[in-house]
Amino acid sequence: MTESGTKKIGIEDLRSRKWFMNPDNPEMTALYLERYLNYGLTRQELQAGKPIIGIAQTGSDLSPCNRHHLELAKRVRDGIIAAGGTCIEVPVHPIQETGKRPTAMLDRNLAYLSLVETLYGYPLDGVVLTIGCDKTTPALLMAAATVNIPAIALSVGPMLNGWFRGERTGSGTIVWKAREMHAAGEIDDEGFMELVASSAPSVGYCNTMGTATTMNSLAEALGMQLPGSAAIPAPYRERGQISYETGRRIVEMVWEDLRPSDIMTREAFENAIVINSAIGGSTNAPIHLNGIARHLGVPLENNDWQSIGHHVPLLVNLQPAGEYLGEDYCHAGGVPAVVGELIAGGLLPHPEVITANGKTMFENCGDLRSADTKVIKPVTEPLKEKAGFINLTGNLFDSAIMKTSVISKTFRAKYLSNPDDPNAFEGRAVVFDGPEDFHHRIDDPSENIDEDCILFMRGAGPKGYPGGAEVVNMRPPSYLLKKGVEALPCVGDGRQSGTSGSPSILNASPEAAAGGGLALLKNGDRVRIDLNDCTANMLVSLEELAERARLFEANGGYDAPESQSPWQQYFREKVGRFDQGMILEDADRYQDISRRFM
Ligand code: FES
Ligand code: MG
Repeated sequence: MTESGTKKIGIEDLRSRKWFMNPDNPEMTALYLERYLNYGLTRQELQAGKPIIGIAQTGSDLSPCNRHHLELAKRVRDGIIAAGGTCIEVPVHPIQETGKRPTAMLDRNLAYLSLVETLYGYPLDGVVLTIGCDKTTPALLMAAATVNIPAIALSVGPMLNGWFRGERTGSGTIVWKAREMHAAGEIDDEGFMELVASSAPSVGYCNTMGTATTMNSLAEALGMQLPGSAAIPAPYRERGQISYETGRRIVEMVWEDLRPSDIMTREAFENAIVINSAIGGSTNAPIHLNGIARHLGVPLENNDWQSIGHHVPLLVNLQPAGEYLGEDYCHAGGVPAVVGELIAGGLLPHPEVITANGKTMFENCGDLRSADTKVIKPVTEPLKEKAGFINLTGNLFDSAIMKTSVISKTFRAKYLSNPDDPNAFEGRAVVFDGPEDFHHRIDDPSENIDEDCILFMRGAGPKGYPGGAEVVNMRPPSYLLKKGVEALPCVGDGRQSGTSGSPSILNASPEAAAGGGLALLKNGDRVRIDLNDCTANMLVSLEELAERARLFEANGGYDAPESQSPWQQYFREKVGRFDQGMILEDADRYQDISRRFM
């Protein structure tokens, strides 16, 4: 019997018994045992029927955002042992968002793939997923989804707030600002370095509502973390304490046989979509959640993000959409306060779903409210209405995501204020093939880029720039910036950093490199974006498009740069579309494998 649930399995049902206590095969038992004894584990620890819990360790010197997990793992281990388990630490392929070339997104599926093999092929009864830096969260949740052994996530926690001359400086967000200041000649190289470094004052992950805080919050929103775990800053004592509680809890979850597929249901994903809107979550979230859902066999697509999430208001006042940072988010109550406010406003669709602590979302958060309404607003006084995404479609792509709530007043006045057609605009396409092409041409006056232009980035999707580049939010030419034109509309088959607040049209699927409509777009084409019916079309006749498609095929398709490593090649051969989760196609045939095959 456990504190919160009922014991559903006995010692004989533990998966690890097949390795360490198999009466039908004493020879293999001896072979499996001897090597785990050699560093000091005792036979009693391995054979007495204690659940063997893996700590999937993402911290390393190469992954500084998650490095603090090396410390936290000690407290997780204490919790596991206190609850009667045995602990085995398991290395995970390193992923660091800003340091990995060409992009950390390429490694999400590699970390997934290797962790599936590890969790499946070794004697583990349950696992603690140490999450943090952007792609570590989806990689680990995807692997737990496929293997489907009891699993609980533990955030490493955000960094402390960054400060520069009395103002908060947030991860990533300050880089976009520093770039503009640098391009406009307001700061030099040293000033750039100083400003950017001020945003990273301690261990932990990005302190803004970028993809890291988004995905850690959503891991909690999905029910995969203990309540309150996502927002606690990495250096706080509560971070160590919740690590201990997480270790204790996973042992109970093994006895309760509470698995990822019990927690991450369609209803849990619907909750997560709503919570993503309320926190102002990253446009990377649909890629990751659609991917996790596919590994569970739960249907989820970009239309769901619009229909379930678009109407939900923004409650969390964090950069880039707002003012504050991670510590403020924690003091205001973190995810449980957001969920409590959504429940109070009648906006959480499924408060009855079960979460990792064995209680429902309502039991965990129903009575909680914001402790600081400057940082987390009630539903009755939101920061913005309709903070979710819309899903655009047309002859340029089948699906692309746009966060309409970040459209600035100046942008709206310039592009969306025609009284006859207030939510639509047309422009002349300027097409870039990858980020290098953009850097090469953007400031070239002969391109004639003016305020009537829409900037297109293609060749930046999962296959084109393997993993997809965060390059769609393109700055205008410096001559326009100096004239005060802060932004031009941007569209592309790449991604955008969650720390950027640009209203770009992103993650266009299928991508140009897979023969999507963007591949047929030409410099100078007129393009119409209509936010009323969520369409994006090049104004090119059907005959002309058919002719372009014929030539595209005849010329051998999209000319993407060559792969630079074996994994890049395998990834490109197997990877699917952003709107379908960018998973390795066919990998979703392998579901619930710990029960199906063992
Ligand atoms: Fe690792 Fe932001 S770069 S969390
Ligand atoms: Mg990123």
